[in-house]
Amino acid sequence: MNGRLSDTWLEELRSRVSLEEVVSEYVPLKQKGRRFWGCCPFHNEKTPSFSVDTESQLYYCFGCHKGGTVINFVMDLERMEFMDAVRLLAERAHMELPERSAQPGEPRVTRDERERMYEANRLAARWFHSLLWTDEGADALNYLYGRGLNDSDIRRFGLGASPKGWDGLLHHLEAQGFEPGLLEKSGLVVRKDNRFFDMFRGRVMFPIINAQGRVLGFGGRAMGDAQPKYLNTAETPVFNKRMGLYALNFAQKERSVGHLVLVEGYMDTVSLRKHGVQGVVATLGTALTEEQARLMKRYAPEVWISYDGDAAGQKAALRALEIFDRQSIPAKVIDYPGGMDPDDFIKANGLSGFEALPKLDSTSYRMLREKDGLDLSTQDGMTQYALRCCAVLRQVKSPIEMENHLRRLVNETGYDREILLRQIGASVPSQSAGPVRRSRGNKTQASGVEKAEQELISMLAAGLISARLLKPEDFTNENHQKLAEWLIAGNSAGAYIDGITDDAQRAQVMRALNFSPLPTEREKALEVAQEDLHTLRDARKKQWENEDKQKVDTLTQAQKAEILRRIDAANRESES
Ligand code: UTP
Ligand code: MN
Repeated sequence: MNGRLSDTWLEELRSRVSLEEVVSEYVPLKQKGRRFWGCCPFHNEKTPSFSVDTESQLYYCFGCHKGGTVINFVMDLERMEFMDAVRLLAERAHMELPERSAQPGEPRVTRDERERMYEANRLAARWFHSLLWTDEGADALNYLYGRGLNDSDIRRFGLGASPKGWDGLLHHLEAQGFEPGLLEKSGLVVRKDNRFFDMFRGRVMFPIINAQGRVLGFGGRAMGDAQPKYLNTAETPVFNKRMGLYALNFAQKERSVGHLVLVEGYMDTVSLRKHGVQGVVATLGTALTEEQARLMKRYAPEVWISYDGDAAGQKAALRALEIFDRQSIPAKVIDYPGGMDPDDFIKANGLSGFEALPKLDSTSYRMLREKDGLDLSTQDGMTQYALRCCAVLRQVKSPIEMENHLRRLVNETGYDREILLRQIGASVPSQSAGPVRRSRGNKTQASGVEKAEQELISMLAAGLISARLLKPEDFTNENHQKLAEWLIAGNSAGAYIDGITDDAQRAQVMRALNFSPLPTEREKALEVAQEDLHTLRDARKKQWENEDKQKVDTLTQAQKAEILRRIDAANRESES
């Protein structure tokens, strides 16, 4: 399931560490039957709804539905990447990490080689840093002073200078026993006509350090007009731009802040932090990725998007909002006045100015952006604005949120509340009124199906019913179906869960594995399972009939015959 480590190796790791032992280092637990109970470390509660199942070696909170394997637990609580959590647990279990096998198309890299790369990066960062106070780094040091930083800021972020020559770093690291080939793989040197040259020349260096304190790569800023303005380390076996964030080494220690501040660049990060803003991180020379959003979720429950106030920054902020929405991460946006960027703004207005800036929720920010390009002093402009905002409000699900935005829109535009409400409803395509009503009618039946699917999966995972009783096709929910297929094939739930990267999907799977209460005896379980299977088969039959009734007019004779055959078969199946 995991590209790097074999399933059997991971299975052994999971079985060698005791989940209740790991969890109890963070949460006091009390045993009741096969489960240990405690207060959930992932949400605030006074009565325990968090439990560790000693048999399945999975944890699950009946309150917030977080759950998973021991690897997930360490990842979530220590805010670690999968591989780092595995490394930590492997040490605990006294297991050797197998050498990482190469991905297709990727040169083979051994574990030792990766360690050497981290070491080369660390030494390079130290060398760049030390050069600042020599002749070779004088320009860079003056540049940094010119941008308002002092020696202590420079030390705190480990900033440095790469010399103008062609091979200063190459010689420095070769003298310490590093092969040019390895330095090339680390992105520190480049090869041309079989000669090696430094990748970064005459730049101000920003080391990119991960949460575990390892130097992954660099961003290098040109001091003059040299292009590109920022040069970033290329993708290497230890540096993946899509996955990492700048300044995570600081964010790691700032969990109590309760939010992250996402900026566009290295300099914005350093500058906001210098002025006392906490939780600031930046992407690494690319637009925000889904992976980075997921990573951020592990550090804070909320993100403040703090992009440049220019048109490009505003557009990027809307795009980032979409990504955070998709990952269900609450996000707010700081709208810097006059096209300023965070660095300009905080230099001019200080920490108190930053704190006083409104942090707009995503709907308010989208509505604000709808003003762009409109002249609100004209009736026409105001009408356009009201129409566009109504389109934005159509996406709002919470009635209270809707009410707040609506009140503001009434104030701003002068339109009646009722008129705006009609407009918000009006452009919903008329035929969609049908399906909405239908799905509401199906709700009780759908939740019956959901319950039946969860109960079956939980009984199967607990070994209360035989896998022969079930087929993956019995399940309608796609996540349930895949999980059932996995379990029916005799695999462990833990291996399945460790292959999931999406939090919502993991929560759904954990819910299905923890249906409660379950029958305690096998005989009773068999009875319950048969009832559940009837529920599922009935629901499927009804769904077919519904679909078929709708389609029947447009069908050929042969298609009609096929449907009758299916209904007939389903009837026979549910009677048997
Ligand atoms: P900006 O051009 O906005 O830089 O790029 P900045 O943060 O304002 O920097 P200063 O204040 O001019 O020094 C924002 C980010 O985009 C990436 C870098 O990560 C940069 O920090 N970028 C920009 C590049 O990777 N390459 C470039 O050529 C430019
Ligand atoms: Mn900028």
